[in-house]
Amino acid sequence: MTNAAAPATSGAWWRAGVIYQIYPRSFQDSGGDGVGDLEGIRRRLDYLVSLGVDAIWISPFYPSPMHDFGYDVSNYCDVDPIFGSLQDFDLLLADAHWRGLKIVLDFVPNHTSIEHEWFEASRQRRDDKSDWYIWRDGASSGGPPNNWRSHFGGPAWSFDPVRGQYYYHAFLPQQPDLNWRNPNVKAAMFDVLRFWLRRGVDGFRVDVISQLMKDEALRDNPVNPHWTPLRPQIEELEQLYSGDQADIHPLIAEMRGVLAEYGDPLLIGEIYLPVERLVAYYGAALSGAHLPFNFQLLETRWEAESLGAMIASYEALLPEGAWPNWVLSNHDRPRVATRVDAQARVATMLLLTLRGTPTLYYGDELGIGHVDIPPPRIRDPWALREPSLPVGRDSVRTPMQWNRSANAGFSTGEPWLPLTPDWSERNVERFEKDPASLLNLTRMLLDYRRAHRSLSLGSWRLVESGSDVLVFERRSGEERTIVALNLGAAPRLRRLDSIGSSFRVAISTYCDRTGETFDQELGLRPDEGVVIEVLG
Ligand code: GLC
Repeated sequence: MTNAAAPATSGAWWRAGVIYQIYPRSFQDSGGDGVGDLEGIRRRLDYLVSLGVDAIWISPFYPSPMHDFGYDVSNYCDVDPIFGSLQDFDLLLADAHWRGLKIVLDFVPNHTSIEHEWFEASRQRRDDKSDWYIWRDGASSGGPPNNWRSHFGGPAWSFDPVRGQYYYHAFLPQQPDLNWRNPNVKAAMFDVLRFWLRRGVDGFRVDVISQLMKDEALRDNPVNPHWTPLRPQIEELEQLYSGDQADIHPLIAEMRGVLAEYGDPLLIGEIYLPVERLVAYYGAALSGAHLPFNFQLLETRWEAESLGAMIASYEALLPEGAWPNWVLSNHDRPRVATRVDAQARVATMLLLTLRGTPTLYYGDELGIGHVDIPPPRIRDPWALREPSLPVGRDSVRTPMQWNRSANAGFSTGEPWLPLTPDWSERNVERFEKDPASLLNLTRMLLDYRRAHRSLSLGSWRLVESGSDVLVFERRSGEERTIVALNLGAAPRLRRLDSIGSSFRVAISTYCDRTGETFDQELGLRPDEGVVIEVLG
């Protein structure tokens, strides 16, 4: 149900749409400096169209000293020269739109770069910006104002000698948090949204949206009794007061109000929370994020029963009218091929057949896997700050592999991060020629999804999850599609007589069974998934 507060979203493009995430440093370099750029993305738009996605979400490309590779923004209304110019952006947007592709930007409102002019003014108590960041005196006992930790290790407070006070930074000391309780901060950041909306963007993925509001009294976070030294330092405390506060929801509703001035473009929220808390981010009467990112496929054990239970509980907890979404990989977490090995194809099938908007991470259509980054080439600030933990994110940000030419066609210069060792075999050009490649499987799934309403917009029902097999049904009117996934390494047989009496395979993850018909008994090879049409 929708109401006056929340515009109806039932016809919105993103419901049946598929989003493709591009990490701009790593997609395509047009300038030869080993770092990808906006013009590079533009030159690859035909590839994205042929893949069959509907939108691209581009990680930050704004001016930045790059301490966190663009998630430390020093000017929200421009393009960093390493990525191009505003003109390049306008051209990219126009060309994308001409091809029917939408563009979703990454909006980073929780913190700026320490080099943003607002921070400079704030630390000098100038231009009414004194209160734009979170400044406090040290504790009376000495040390920082409270016990909060940075996501990247160490305390979340740094002392600024210019101002003579501590400032809060949920991430690096070079990423001071803005004070969203200050109405001027809010107004300035809403104007940033308007700046890009006027240029014609189709939506935003909002970085760490759940942390914009912190406890007003900045109370100490309680100790987490389950923490072990193998986990990031921040988890030593429960994040009770440093994020996910009740007053975040009216703020997101206000943000939606700004978007509503320009139609109702897509608002995605980056939120790492358990499903029960996550669904609150749809907001009262759906006035919150259209899509609070659902990271459950990244966090759930890759096993039929756990996955089945997780999907069913997410579906059950969704507020009425809320549209689901699924993420399999991103620039912060290990790639899917690394996590699930032989199950990468099954995982792709699952992502693209569940109910809800999927987000596909660049390179996952090639099954790009783990890359060992030699210590001198480590660039990720988190990996450098917590070197004893397997938290490094460089390995999931390596360049896209286009062809067999130098540097996989990514750049004429030395790429900023190494390619995978198997890049000369694992690349777009090669995979396009192989009808059974993961790339072609991804295309088949995207084509099928587009052509079948049961998959794009239909209902979802769990049929079975257990003994390595996950089966569910998608349905729209008379059109019924069954998805059966073997999550194990042994062959499996399943009777489908509770569902129908005759079936036809539309797609197998092995790409070799299309058109095969059967009555009731389905055989699944090891690590095989199938999309099946119910004939009768
Ligand atoms: C988000 C981004 C991550 C970044 C962090 C700080 O979690 O996805 O890459 O480091 O925010 O902006």
